[in-house]
Amino acid sequence: MAPNYHNANANSPYGSGDPYYNESSGYITPMPLKKKTSLWLKIGIPVAICVIVAAVVGGVVGSRHHSSSSSVAGGAAAGGSSGDQAAAASSAASVKNAIGVFATGTDSQYLLPLYPSTTNTAAFTTPTFHPTSDNALSWPDDPFQPSSPAPTSVRPDRPRLIAPSYKWQVLPNLIANDPYLKQWNDTIFGNATEYYSLPPVEYFMDGSSGILDNCRYVKERVKAWSYVYRMTNDTKWVDRTWAELQHAAGDDFGPNNSTKWNPSHFLDTAEMTAAFGIAYDWLNDVLTADQKSFIMTNMITYGLSQGIHAYQNSVSGDFTGWWANKITGNWNCVCNNGMTMGALAILGDDTTGTAEQILGYSIPNALTGCALAVSSDGTWAETANYWYFGTTGHAEMASSLMTAAGSDFGLLTTNPTFNLTGQYHMYVSGFGSLFNYGDHGPNKYTATANSMMLYGDHYQHPEYVLFQRDQHDAPEPWSMFWYNPTVSGAFWDNMPLDHFFNDGLDQWASFRSSWTDEDALYVAIKAGQLQNHQTHNDLDLGDFVIDALGTRWAGELGSGDYNSPDYFTSDAQDAVRWLYYRKRTEGQNTILVNKQNQNVNAQPKILNSGTTGEVQGSSTVYQVPDKSTAFWVADLTSGYNDTTSFQRGIRTLNQRRQVLLQDEINASQPIMWRMHTNATISVDSAGTTATLTIDDKTMQVTILSPSSGATFVKMDPVRFSDDPPLPANAVDSPNPGVSVLTISLDPGQYTLQVLFNPQWSGMSSSDFVTPPSVALGQWSLTSHN
Ligand SMILES: *[C@@H]1O[C@H](CO)[C@@H](O)[C@H](O)[C@H]1NC(C)=O
Ligand SMILES: *[C@@H]1O[C@H](CO)[C@@H](O)[C@H](O)[C@H]1NC(C)=O
Ligand SMILES: *[C@@H]1O[C@H](CO)[C@@H](O)[C@H](O)[C@H]1NC(C)=O
Ligand SMILES: *[C@@H]1O[C@H](CO)[C@@H](O)[C@H](O)[C@H]1NC(C)=O
Ligand SMILES: *[C@@H]1O[C@H](CO)[C@@H](O)[C@H](O)[C@H]1NC(C)=O
Ligand SMILES: *[C@@H]1O[C@H](CO)[C@@H](O)[C@H](O)[C@H]1NC(C)=O
Ligand SMILES: *[C@@H]1O[C@H](CO)[C@@H](O)[C@H](O)[C@H]1NC(C)=O
Ligand SMILES: *[C@@H]1O[C@H](CO)[C@@H](O)[C@H](O)[C@H]1NC(C)=O
Ligand SMILES: *[C@@H]1O[C@H](CO)[C@@H](O)[C@H](O)[C@H]1NC(C)=O
Repeated sequence: MAPNYHNANANSPYGSGDPYYNESSGYITPMPLKKKTSLWLKIGIPVAICVIVAAVVGGVVGSRHHSSSSSVAGGAAAGGSSGDQAAAASSAASVKNAIGVFATGTDSQYLLPLYPSTTNTAAFTTPTFHPTSDNALSWPDDPFQPSSPAPTSVRPDRPRLIAPSYKWQVLPNLIANDPYLKQWNDTIFGNATEYYSLPPVEYFMDGSSGILDNCRYVKERVKAWSYVYRMTNDTKWVDRTWAELQHAAGDDFGPNNSTKWNPSHFLDTAEMTAAFGIAYDWLNDVLTADQKSFIMTNMITYGLSQGIHAYQNSVSGDFTGWWANKITGNWNCVCNNGMTMGALAILGDDTTGTAEQILGYSIPNALTGCALAVSSDGTWAETANYWYFGTTGHAEMASSLMTAAGSDFGLLTTNPTFNLTGQYHMYVSGFGSLFNYGDHGPNKYTATANSMMLYGDHYQHPEYVLFQRDQHDAPEPWSMFWYNPTVSGAFWDNMPLDHFFNDGLDQWASFRSSWTDEDALYVAIKAGQLQNHQTHNDLDLGDFVIDALGTRWAGELGSGDYNSPDYFTSDAQDAVRWLYYRKRTEGQNTILVNKQNQNVNAQPKILNSGTTGEVQGSSTVYQVPDKSTAFWVADLTSGYNDTTSFQRGIRTLNQRRQVLLQDEINASQPIMWRMHTNATISVDSAGTTATLTIDDKTMQVTILSPSSGATFVKMDPVRFSDDPPLPANAVDSPNPGVSVLTISLDPGQYTLQVLFNPQWSGMSSSDFVTPPSVALGQWSLTSHN
């Protein structure tokens, strides 16, 4: 499938065509790797936050408090009489204001929030919404409640899209009473001001991603400027928006009129259409008739009528519409959303019938594509990174339909497990990066995780809202309207440390030793199918990551070069995609047999898994109990030729301070265990212990079994010289700073045990355990005590 994402503009939040974008260095193939500064935590503003927290913290570190008997995190709206509710809402608001917004770290890939090391029994309670009729603390009910909603019967007032006027009316009051809304509002004003003096976003055709980044920057600007206009009534923001739209529909934009918004890469068309729709709707009361006509006409010509063509040709192989043919991935969400927002914006003014026609296509189309991209366990069908694009499109579309026409028309309900996708996002988040398997680039501001706020509110999962509101990407206009300010508590309170995702499409597991300590242990591992991911996956059964001590020790390489020949053409066994190192099995943290790729039609099985089931309490300081553990065992035999059996298991040991990886394999060809790391590797003279160093942090990795004949060898992260050749002009992305720790074994049967010991401060060598040797078939919660 065609891509929607690549690393161009990674250095610039503004993108090509503006002064911040460096065209020559804009295409960043590897992750921006800061050699020797890979520690995530360089503290932001810790002093201020500690002082503020100290003022409201009454509790004692280590004590716990739960306000309800709910056995899962979240899910709660506080009950009680209306008097009780009002009191609870107001008390929750004062606690929130006393604490304020947590600082964020400045050197992690996802700029993680820094949670103070403390217990706060008043604030860190069960995630809860506190319904209240106090409009200084809560949104009023929407006055538009059609009894039989129809997509083409829109609310009488504007704005229609996402932010109806009744919300703007109370927003200043809510901002005054909520530190998050206040900070986000300030940030949006700051961002709008910064964009104001930039020249209009230029058309820049960038091979595989088309003009997508450019279109997304226009949308980002339009959102910010329209927001600030509505908050100030200052028409300078309208004028600046108008200049941007004129440019994006003008003769300087694109080679000619027929390809202006690049419909052959329809994401671009969709995002630009959404941008025009937002401006048309949010600025409707001040735009002149001529301006409105210009915006609508261009949106129809370059956006919506291209959409009609795409829908009508989705099955015929016409490239503009491939995404509309039941594609369960981000393309279907983003494209249907752009068409929907554009159509809703002009409904009633458009006399051509285009808007009505679009809605007849886009809603049913998203119900059979986008809405099904979440599997039965909540996992996104593509990768953890594409979740951002897909859920942003899905949430914008659902929200626009609800506000404009009074219903989501099934987008939020047709897939009964869509409500679990917030959980997926939380468990796939490690301490500085995601479990970033498959195609995965740097984070982008134009697609945030703020769908968590809409989903948390709509599905009654307050922990989604609480998790997201502290993240660095929270400040943007959508958050202002999706956030339910009556939420209180701490997302980590009662949140299980571990989770198993067992849907056959992506079988994976997530373990950690804390939700709030950025130095904690995080382990994630996967099996799953190697097709049906919109060609965004790798051949990576058994692949894992390990975070500890504030850094990643076993890591991923991310996306290859999307512009390189046939990167996306096919995911069949002989596909060119599987020649690129980052996509090959040798580029993953798993076992290689005979240096061959895994079989794309493998059907791995989860054999066993378990967790002692701890949840974190109300404190950010979590002490892992003695017998606490989690483990996961999978049969990966079907991924391999020349292999009679291969099972891989992983578990935590010793209060989640150590990790054991065990492989039981019988193969008739040479076996190679591989792990990619940014660390400097030093192997001892026996060859059985490798010391990994990143900055001043250390991890020891030891081969426990076989007891002889297995040694660590460091290799480079490049294709083997005898791998099948790449096509001419192929770019195999280099992996600077990365080493591969390997163990090579002759054909035969082995139990291979590798023990990971992060060198935690205050832990002496005698505090580490050497686990007993237990066959994977005998693993249990107590098998290694
Ligand atoms: C929003 O932020 C701007 C810029 O900081 C500020 O001037 C304005 O008063 C804020 N709005 C509200 C309602 O607080
Ligand atoms: C918005 O402003 C914040 C605070 O200055 C900044 O960190 C962020 O990068 C800006 N976002 C964008 C998309 O420019
Ligand atoms: C902007 O204008 C609207 C409509 O006249 C009014 O309700 C609102 O109070 C004004 N806002 C500001 C910040 O002046
Ligand atoms: C418009 O420009 C594109 C890209 O340069 C080109 O392929 C196409 O033929 C042009 N169409 C017309 C009608 O000129
Ligand atoms: C593109 O369309 C506009 C509006 O119809 C027209 O004014 C302009 O001349 C066209 N540009 C080209 C290059 O044909
Ligand atoms: C998710 O939604 C389904 C109904 O569609 C419901 O049965 C289930 O309990 C919900 N799960 C969670 C965890 O909210
Ligand atoms: C190396 O560090 C970069 C930047 O933090 C990260 O994106 C990448 O996944 C790491 N690679 C490995 C192999 O750990
Ligand atoms: C494994 O064997 C099957 C059947 O012979 C073959 O189709 C497949 O290409 C082989 N896999 C690899 C990675 O060579
Ligand atoms: C390993 O596989 C080979 C080839 O299938 C088989 O002959 C042998 O018995 C197996 N070894 C064990 C110990 O199961």
